[in-house]
Amino acid sequence: MLKEIDAIKKSFEAESKQIDSIDQLTSIRDKYLSRKRGLLTQLWKEFQGIPAEQRSEVGRRLGQLKIEVEDRLERMKDELDRQQLNARITSETVDFTLPGNRRAVGHLHPVTQVRHQIEDIFCAMGYSIEDGPEIETTYYNFEALNIPEHHPARDAQDTFYVSDSLVLRTHTSPVQIRTMERQKPPLRIICPGRCYRGDNPDATHSPVFHQIEGLAVDEGITFGDFKGTLEYFLKAFFSEKTRVRFRPSYFQFTEPSAEVDISCIFCSGRGCRVCKMSGWIEVLGAGMVDPAVFAYVNYDPEKYTGFAFGVGIERLALIKYSVNNIQHFFENDLRFLEQF
Ligand code: PHE
Repeated sequence: MLKEIDAIKKSFEAESKQIDSIDQLTSIRDKYLSRKRGLLTQLWKEFQGIPAEQRSEVGRRLGQLKIEVEDRLERMKDELDRQQLNARITSETVDFTLPGNRRAVGHLHPVTQVRHQIEDIFCAMGYSIEDGPEIETTYYNFEALNIPEHHPARDAQDTFYVSDSLVLRTHTSPVQIRTMERQKPPLRIICPGRCYRGDNPDATHSPVFHQIEGLAVDEGITFGDFKGTLEYFLKAFFSEKTRVRFRPSYFQFTEPSAEVDISCIFCSGRGCRVCKMSGWIEVLGAGMVDPAVFAYVNYDPEKYTGFAFGVGIERLALIKYSVNNIQHFFENDLRFLEQF
């Protein structure tokens, strides 16, 4: 048995010299020390059966070998761990002078920002915000707004028809009707939302765009209230220095109707390329609510008067931030959006 112990000791010494990885070390440990088949474990089993007079010598040598093997493997493991750590430290150097990973912080789209600015101005004047569907019936989009069946505004080239009686709303004005059907005066509302028209995309047109509709109805609302409100709004939105001009115009659902201009914010009215030398920029359409519209919603036109307006959100954003192409608002190029 002593010979066996010597042989195992020699083979262990030889094999342990070859170890250069944790995997090898584990398999050598298994080979010699595993609880079931380890070579030393086998010897301990044989040891149970040897004659009493050999026991102390064999036991001593066996015990010594076990301690030697365990010790050696332990030291080799420490050494391999240390080598591995060193390798990691040299390969994974951290350069503290490198710039960090900057986390991009998102923000609201400029169209949304401008919508909020407009909403804030009107909410401060006591207006509330209403909503309506983007797929609208021809009744609400046209008829109840006093736009009869064969009016050119209904022409298929301007309007996206979903069916004979359904369209993608071409303006936010149908929300006027829906709100008046639900509520009795006094009424002060704005309704922001998406609109659709079959326009070819160019620098000032997009088939999808946003409007904010406004409507105020009460007893005794005058043209002066109408002018004063819009003037206040445009000065608050652009600047106190902005001058506002009302030009006669025509909409089926307002009478009288006006197109509203502001003094050109680029040349202060002296005349430049943006205002085509006129000194003025058109910003919205508006007017006093036509009594014919009140008839559709059963408001007494003898008792109530009101005004309404519709402003293009992108249009106001283009002017305020001097953006030269409306398409920028829909392309979602971060180099553009990051500027807001
Ligand atoms: N709905 C009109 C448009 O889109 C604008 C408008 C709204 C005009 C309200 C008058 C009153 O052109």
